Formats: sequence, structure tokens, C-alpha cells
Amino acid sequence: MKTRILFVCLGNICRSPLAEALFRQKAEEAGVAHLFEIDSAGTSSQHRGELADHRTRTNARSHGIEITHRSRPFVHDDFENYDIILTMDEQNLNHVNRMSKTEEHLLKVSLLLDMAEGVDLREVPDPWYGGEQGFEEVYQLLDHAAGLLLGSLLKKN
Ligand code: 4NP
Repeated sequence: MKTRILFVCLGNICRSPLAEALFRQKAEEAGVAHLFEIDSAGTSSQHRGELADHRTRTNARSHGIEITHRSRPFVHDDFENYDIILTMDEQNLNHVNRMSKTEEHLLKVSLLLDMAEGVDLREVPDPWYGGEQGFEEVYQLLDHAAGLLLGSLLKKN
């Protein structure tokens, strides 16, 4: 059975679509993509239907990654449709936790960087208001975290 993972941020146009693309790339490179179903969502519906932010896509493309995801809001059904729900920061974590109605749902939710053991930070910073350097920092952080996450999930399986 596939492990279903949902990455969540605020707008679903910067951090979580990149986390999704990086995790997919690493799973493909490791030949284990068939073991996972992955998607991303935002706690805000403000950017619904939009491609990822042009700065995120330009940065990802410079690393050879094409992001084709379109923003969609996190919905309550996601608690049923996914096994692991990983948020980028505490604000998203609190938002998703507040939407959960059962202990079982709550147990599926955590900060991405808490699950990617070995990263000192707890939150993936929001690059929205910063410059290009912020997008590159987010890329490096998510690239590292996606690799650690894949490694720890494969160890558990
Ligand atoms: P994301 O970044 O949560 O990583 O997609 C943001 C995208 C949009 C906004 C804030 C953060 N915004 O304020 O519209």
C-alpha cells in the first residue's frame, strides 16, 4: 500500500509545491516513487488554481526541477486521504490541527522539519516577502529535508 503524504504551507505557491516536487524527485531517483502518493495544499485559498510563484519556479528550474502543481486549499477530506500531513511552519500546523476532529487525524500532522530528523530548524521560513536569496535558502533547506524524510520513511517500511 502506498504511503500518502501531503505537504502544507500557507499559499501553496512557494514552499509546499517545492517540497512536493523535491520529495517526488528523490523518490524517483531512488526507484521508490511507486511507494508514495504525494500532493501539496495551502491553508489559505487565496491563490487557488495558480501555478507556483514565478520566483519559486525560476529557482527550482535553475536546479533542474519543473513545478507544475496548481494551488489548492487544504480541506477536511485530506485527513482521510493522506497518512502523513507535513506543515512548513507553526502557523500552518496550528491551522491544520484546529481543523482536525479526531485524535487519529491529529496524529497524522507534524512539522516537516520535526520529521526530517537531523535539521536544527523547526520551521521552513516563508520566502514571499524576501529577495531571491530567500528562495535559494528555502530550496536548500527543503532539498535536505526531503532527502532525510525519504530516508527515514524507507527505514520504517
Ligand atoms: P507559501 O508562501 O505559503 O510558501 O506558498 C506564501 C505565498 C503567498 C503569501 C504568503 C506566503 N501571500 O501572502 O499571498
